[in-house]
Amino acid sequence: MVSDNEDMISLGVGEPDYITPWHIREACIHSLEQGETSYTSNYGLVELRDEISRTYTQKQGLYYDPTCEILVTSGVSEALDLAVRAITDPGDEIIIVEPSYVAYAPAVIFAGGNPVPVQTCMEDKFKLTSENLKKAITPKTKAILLNYPNNPTGAVMDKRELEPIAEVVEEHDIMVISDEVYERMTYDTRHTCFASLDGMRQRTIVLNGFSKAYSMTGFRMAYALAPAPVLAAMMRIHQYSMLCAPITAQVGAIEALKNGEEEVEKMVNEYNRRRRLIVKGFNNIGLDCFNPGGAFYAFPSVASTGLTSEQFAERLLDQQQVVTIPGNVFGRAGNGYLRCAYAASREDIKEALDRIENFISNI
Ligand SMILES: Cc1ncc(COP(=O)(O)O)c(C=O)c1O
Repeated sequence: MVSDNEDMISLGVGEPDYITPWHIREACIHSLEQGETSYTSNYGLVELRDEISRTYTQKQGLYYDPTCEILVTSGVSEALDLAVRAITDPGDEIIIVEPSYVAYAPAVIFAGGNPVPVQTCMEDKFKLTSENLKKAITPKTKAILLNYPNNPTGAVMDKRELEPIAEVVEEHDIMVISDEVYERMTYDTRHTCFASLDGMRQRTIVLNGFSKAYSMTGFRMAYALAPAPVLAAMMRIHQYSMLCAPITAQVGAIEALKNGEEEVEKMVNEYNRRRRLIVKGFNNIGLDCFNPGGAFYAFPSVASTGLTSEQFAERLLDQQQVVTIPGNVFGRAGNGYLRCAYAASREDIKEALDRIENFISNI
C-alpha cells in the first residue's frame, strides 16, 4: 500500500496537517463529561447558529436569521448535496467552474441535473470571466457553483472581480451555490462572501465549514446560509436523511468560533510561508506555477516536461515516492497540471521539491 511507505512524501491529500487545536478538543471532552449525548434541533444547536450569525454580521456585514436561514450540517459535503438537491429539477443545468472540486459534478448528477463545465486557465489566474460564464448559460441553467478560494488551483476572486459575475447572475436570473470552505485561507486579499455583493444575498446559498480553517476534518462540521424558503427545502432533506449533525462536534464548532481566532491565524501564517516556498521552488525548477491567493494548493504546469499530468504523477510516485494529484481529475482544464497540497511541513516540501527536480532531470 502507498501509505505504508515510510520514505513517501504526500502532497496529495487536501487535509490540514495539524491536529484540531486543544481548546476545541477539550470543549468536546467536557461536553461528553457533562453527558451531552442527545440529538439537537434539526437546524443545529441554537448557540452555534447564533455564533455563525454573529460571525457573518461582524466579518461580512451580512445578517442571517439563526431561526430560519442557517442550517448546521455534517460537513460541507452534506451541505453541498442538500443545496444541489433542493434547487435542481430533472434536466436542470448547473454550471461548474473547472478545474473543480471532484464532488461537484457527481452531486449534480445524483440530483438529476446536468453539470455544465466552464473552463478557466492559468493566463486568467484560474478566475472565472463573465464572458465565459455568459457563453455557458442556456434557458435550462438553474445555478452556478462557485468555489473561491479554489480547490484545486488556489485561485481567489476579490470583490471587484466577482462583481461582473454577479451582474451576469442577476441578468440571467440564476442562483449561486458558493462553496467558501477555504474562506479563512486567503493570503494577499480579503475574502469576499459572494452573498455580500449587491443583489446576491437572495440568490446565493453559502456553504462554509470547520474542516479546513480549524483543522476539524474528522468532526464533519459545516453549515449552509440561504434565504428562508431555500433553506426550508434543504432542511426537509436534512431532517429525514441526517436528522441533525452530531452534538459533540457542534460543541467543538461553538468553541472554534468563540475562541479559535488566534490558532487559525497561526496556521494560516504558516500555510503562507509554505505557499511562498513551494511556488518559488516550482518556478525555480522550471515548472510554471502561478501564485495562488488562497486555500493550500499549488497548481504547477508540467507541460514543459512533455509528460501528461497522469504520467508525471505516476512516475514521480514510482521513482521518487512523492504523491501529487494529476490535474485532469479536476476536469479538462486541469490537463497538464498537478495539484500539490502544501498542508505538509516545510521540511517535507523542500525534500519533495528536491525529488521533483531530480525526477525532471532524469526524464
Ligand atoms: C472545495 C471543497 N468543498 C468541500 C469539501 C468537503 O468539506 P467537508 O470536510 O466540510 O465535507 C472539500 C474538501 O476537500 C473541498 O475541497
